[in-house]
Amino acid sequence: MVYDLIVIGGGPAGYLAAERAGHAGLATLLIEKRFIGGVCLNEGCVPSKALLYSAKLLDGAKHSEKYGVTVTNASIDQEAVIARKNKVVKTLVTGIKGKLKKSKVTIVEAAAEIQGKNTEGYEIVANGVNYTGRRLLIATGSMPVIPPIPGVKEGIEKGKVLTNREILDLTIVPKFLVIVGGGVIGLEMASYFNSAGSKVTVIEMLDNIAGNTDHEISDILLKNYQKKGVEFQLGAKVTKVLENAVVYEKGGQIFEVPAEKILMSIGRRPAVNGLGLDRIGVEVERGKIKVNEKGQTNIPEVYAAGDVNGNSMLAHTAYREAEVCINNILGKKDIMRYDAIPSVIYTNPEVGCVGETEESAKNKGIEFEAVKLSMMYSGRYVAENEGGDGICKVLIDKKHRKLIGVHMIGNYASEIIYGAGLMIETEMRVNDIKELVFPHPTVCEILREAIFEFDNK
Ligand code: NAI
Repeated sequence: MVYDLIVIGGGPAGYLAAERAGHAGLATLLIEKRFIGGVCLNEGCVPSKALLYSAKLLDGAKHSEKYGVTVTNASIDQEAVIARKNKVVKTLVTGIKGKLKKSKVTIVEAAAEIQGKNTEGYEIVANGVNYTGRRLLIATGSMPVIPPIPGVKEGIEKGKVLTNREILDLTIVPKFLVIVGGGVIGLEMASYFNSAGSKVTVIEMLDNIAGNTDHEISDILLKNYQKKGVEFQLGAKVTKVLENAVVYEKGGQIFEVPAEKILMSIGRRPAVNGLGLDRIGVEVERGKIKVNEKGQTNIPEVYAAGDVNGNSMLAHTAYREAEVCINNILGKKDIMRYDAIPSVIYTNPEVGCVGETEESAKNKGIEFEAVKLSMMYSGRYVAENEGGDGICKVLIDKKHRKLIGVHMIGNYASEIIYGAGLMIETEMRVNDIKELVFPHPTVCEILREAIFEFDNK
């Protein structure tokens, strides 16, 4: 048979696209070489949240006296944490498989390779079987970047150097954990293992953590984690990985830090190799599949969504990109917009950001005002966060009196930021937001406070 659509890769972009396509009546084949659910569900976003929730409970128990509650001997059972994480993953993967079945998607669990094009469509081979599809959607995701630092390759072979995949299956809490890269993965894992009892050292090349996150926010996060005992070596470069240590260079000097395990989290790169993209001439630019705003590659019947196009490398972006591709395949008008995609770091405290940063707004020549408020303006935040130092910063385009960016640190930020994204996406003006009713008492009221502050200044 000839499929209407063959989707390669079963992560958030691939499984959602396949489900939507199948639901719309397209004969859809989904080919996945590892696990349905991809990195996000099996070895990334979801499992890390399961671990972080256990850490949050432990932290809560350890600091419970501040809230008038006595808990003695709170500790983590790492094997039980991992077992629970596995259960969470299994539940969700089963759910996704059920949805795909309901949408009548055919699933093949094998590695797919593009063979070429015939008169009926694109030929794919998986597990020695040939499949033909009128259209293709490449959703193969991304892989961790492994730097050519001496000792890293050997460390991986010995199970000493880990990526996001292995660290989420670690049934021991290492005494000394060195994390190379202070981005999202590095910070979330620093958060978990610090709570679980490891002595964590983060070695970051830049002078700040959390990449492009608003620096005032990332500085607060840094101070929180330094207070909790995480050591940060910023502006530092790893030069060697030894049997039980990591060597790094900082300010022209060489240092060594003990390491029982080492996490490599210096970024991810799109997974484009070995797919046979060149056999049909799909354009790859700087390691990413080039797509237009409809998700089409240079070949109109071949689409790409998710990390493989390198546009935003977030699971929620992947979902939306997948929908845009399927809508276009179905002849519905839809394009991808990247202006209001929220980003979250699930540390404790959480970070949530959306829209322009002060830097990006300046670069675009937007005349804006930044209003910064302590989270202490929220009654619920005060009630739940003894000694909390969270802030919320909103950026407003002064000419149009329009919200263009929100950056916050403090718990619930991960849930609140969606509302801010909605306001930016729908181009809400200051006066529109002032008319909204926020539930009270909630931490999200901080947005309302910040908006009123803009006019009261
Ligand atoms: P990242 O790009 O967030 O951070 C990598 C960090 O490593 C950067 O700060 C960079 O300066 C640093 N770095 C690069 N080379 C280095 C070197 N040789 N030595 C020391 N530091 C070095 O990448 P990360 O954390 O690996 O995450 C990968 C992807 O996973 C990201 O694209 C992210 O969007 C996604 N992700 C998203 C999460 C979320 O939304 N909460 C959670 C986890 C991952």
